[in-house]
Amino acid sequence: MIIIAIDGTSASGKGFISTTLSSALMFPSLDTGALYRACALKVLESFNFAEGLRDNNETFKEIENGFPDGYPDNFFDITEEDIILCVKQFYYSGEVFKYSTKKLIRSEMVSRFVPVVAKIPEVREFMKEYQFKFAIEPEPLPGQKKENIIGAIIEGRDIGTVIYPNADLKLFITASLEARAKRRFLDYQNSGDETTTYEEVYESLKARDEADKNRAVSPLKPADDAIIIDTSDMDKNQVIDFIMKIAHERIGEHVFENAEKQKQQIAMEAEKAANQLTEEQEDNEVEEEERPLKMQPKGPVAEYKPIDLDSIQKAQSSLDEALMMTSEIENIMSSTENNNSEEDDEEEYDNIGNLKE
Ligand code: DC
Repeated sequence: MIIIAIDGTSASGKGFISTTLSSALMFPSLDTGALYRACALKVLESFNFAEGLRDNNETFKEIENGFPDGYPDNFFDITEEDIILCVKQFYYSGEVFKYSTKKLIRSEMVSRFVPVVAKIPEVREFMKEYQFKFAIEPEPLPGQKKENIIGAIIEGRDIGTVIYPNADLKLFITASLEARAKRRFLDYQNSGDETTTYEEVYESLKARDEADKNRAVSPLKPADDAIIIDTSDMDKNQVIDFIMKIAHERIGEHVFENAEKQKQQIAMEAEKAANQLTEEQEDNEVEEEERPLKMQPKGPVAEYKPIDLDSIQKAQSSLDEALMMTSEIENIMSSTENNNSEEDDEEEYDNIGNLKE
């Protein structure tokens, strides 16, 4: 498995570079920052600090408004033992990956709390396991077959130094604090948050840089053999050009050719599946056209008319009259029958029913 380690400071563009390389090389990528963020969110939830966090569609400011009067005094007072126990349970519950896709992990509240969690050696040990597992058996990209995976990208702070010191390619991405604050500030604005100021973003990034660089375990620093890329004065296209040049030189053409083949195969299979779907839809449409014909009502649907009480009463009295008349007729008939019966006894009929003289 070819391993690419991408480390760097917050908001330096590591995520963008990982995603770009991931789709160019068809290497699945793992954002390890999201794993630490997932742990931080879980701890906040477990200690009821996340009550204001409701669903995944809130903007960052709305999430922060979970603490309308500012952060509680004891926000950072959760003990290390509390965090270790919580993360241990979280790790064994197998929920870390599920949490790592939640939008809430990107909230300012979580961002400020992650360094508290990420500096604990036991927490880093649990996360190490995830990172090793991922590189052995990475989660395939959409449409990709597991057996075609030949490499993985792991992105974080200590990948090239601690997790994969033997990685095939190590990149260390950075940018000036001002350039990163500007980018993050724009991200907030684009997400609908118009209240977080540039100064707040700047201060928050500065605090995180210090926490990342100065922690005792796995501090943020470039590996000796890492290629350092400063993106302060680069736009996205320049970053892509630069990264691609490095990948062609260091990873090799055969990997790009392999990725091209995989993409063509995925596109062909997607087209085949789409055609099959269209054929099935057409078949269903034919069946659906026939079905309503069979179920069509034979005549026009009866028109609703209000009940006419008069006509019901009239019909009732005609019925009563008819019944009375019937009983009268029956009486007359029975009296006539009685009169005739005596005469009948006296008359004689021949074989063919004629009255004998
Ligand atoms: O890359 P990010 O901003 O999403 O990272 C979130 C936090 O996690 C950040 O405070 C640094 C920490 N982190 C870490 O300590 N080690 C890693 N490998 C990745 C992230």
